Amino acid sequence: GRVELARLVDGLLRTVPDFPEPGIQFRDIMPLLADADAFARVVQALADHVHGPVDLVAGMEARGFLLAAPVAAALRAGVVPVRKAGKLPGPVASQSFALEYGVAAVEVQPGTIPDGARVLVVDDVLATGGTAAATVGLLEACGATVVGLSFLVELEGLGGRALLPGRSVDSLLTLG
Ligand code: PRP
Repeated sequence: GRVELARLVDGLLRTVPDFPEPGIQFRDIMPLLADADAFARVVQALADHVHGPVDLVAGMEARGFLLAAPVAAALRAGVVPVRKAGKLPGPVASQSFALEYGVAAVEVQPGTIPDGARVLVVDDVLATGGTAAATVGLLEACGATVVGLSFLVELEGLGGRALLPGRSVDSLLTLG
């Protein structure tokens, strides 16, 4: 069940203090990805969040790619890589968002997103929500319908869910 899955995820995350900067507690998902059984169960659970058809699964660079692609394959959907600025050949659509210090942007190729496509957004971590909210805005500006968002881990204390009002948001493990 869900509680058991959350425990499994929790047990395979590695918390690294002061990475990549002092004061940041980094949640390292690599041990989970390397565990064949846990990886398969996590992929299935992320895919199970949405009922009804999914045409595309969007995953955010870089760790989101590792989850979005197998989730898409499980759903027999296509993949949309949501990349950081300047990585995709054009034409690209871009959405900028605020960081604690400065600004970042996410980009997709709108030519790969049919009008009205039903898109599931998948990422490893929901933290402040900036990346996810920008991704939703970007996909919908391209004509997609975002049918849900699935995260491996939600860092509840950072309030990311508040940037996704009215959205169907699921996370397999919630941490303070
Ligand atoms: C992490 C994570 C999410 C994002 C969440 O990616 O994988 O995409 O941050 O943070 P937010 O909710 O505050 O926007 P990161 O930018 O570290 O990229 P990486 O996967 O390439 O390391």
